[in-house]
Amino acid sequence: MKITVLGTGEVCRLLAPAFLSLGHEVVVGTRDPETTMARNHAYRVLATRHPQLRPASFPAAVDAAERSGLVVNALSGPACPDALAPLAEGLTGHVVMDVSSPYDWSRPDAVLDPVNTDSLGEAIQRALPGSYVVKTLNTLAAQVMPEPDAVGPDHTVFLSGDDETAKARVGDLLRALGWRDVLDPGGHRHRPRHRDDAAHVDRRLASTGHPPLRIQDRPLRRPSRTPVPGSPGHPAPAGARCPGPGGPGGSAEEAASRPRGRART
Ligand SMILES: NC(=O)c1ccc[n+]([C@@H]2O[C@H](COP(=O)([O-])OP(=O)(O)OC[C@H]3O[C@@H](n4cnc5c(N)ncnc54)[C@H](OP(=O)(O)O)[C@@H]3O)[C@@H](O)[C@H]2O)c1
Repeated sequence: MKITVLGTGEVCRLLAPAFLSLGHEVVVGTRDPETTMARNHAYRVLATRHPQLRPASFPAAVDAAERSGLVVNALSGPACPDALAPLAEGLTGHVVMDVSSPYDWSRPDAVLDPVNTDSLGEAIQRALPGSYVVKTLNTLAAQVMPEPDAVGPDHTVFLSGDDETAKARVGDLLRALGWRDVLDPGGHRHRPRHRDDAAHVDRRLASTGHPPLRIQDRPLRRPSRTPVPGSPGHPAPAGARCPGPGGPGGSAEEAASRPRGRART
């Protein structure tokens, strides 16, 4: 299919060649193609290696997009709503895979903005009312996005969006990249906010050299009124194991063999 990537940063430079290697046609959009080729050394190296990735302007890249394909938003987070709004008409009817994170790097310590009461994914969907925005991959370092095995075989990637067909198309692409556990917690509203938080935690851990987190997607159970021995709410006997990544009383291996409880695309 045809994949249009908006942005020439690290995410584009890693995803675009991965899409090419899967056999997709890729068009890249940037603010000013000449400036990008002159000043963005890393992108120029990529476009020299893959001449088909020579960038177009944002409007030209959107014009070239096909509704049967995908548009990837890989623009700087704070710039996204204002940069995308003028492209809204051209992006009507398109599936937009949004990987952006709402980091405000203009502050001394990068902060998420918006956060809690809004999310960048929702703001982008408002800026593109005719598009089918699907948020995904933003909880991961760019290097991991096209190479899930870099962090082991049992990691989860989220996607959020309001349109099932759009999520299925993005889910197919994620699986083609090698993601086996594609988790859809459902809907756009409120959901991407938690993804942004997760991205924030992961980034802070990465700066200390900690490996990426395994996401536990099983809901924590509330203690029952009359705890049954061995149940989550029962006081643990002395010497009992702490609940591990597999949930109360379970090992990671046991957890891996249990059926998962939520919808996957
Ligand atoms: N890098 C990571 O590890 C990582 C991980 C998870 C999520 N993300 C998110 O993915 C997105 C892309 O990240 P990145 O690291 O590849 O690149 P980035 O440096 O965050 O963004 C680069 C892109 O943003 C565009 N841009 C910057 N300011 C703009 C403005 N005012 N108007 C329009 N476009 C503007 C640039 O356009 P030009 O091409 O014209 O210069 C460039 O294409 C970001 O939202 C980021 O938060 C990144």
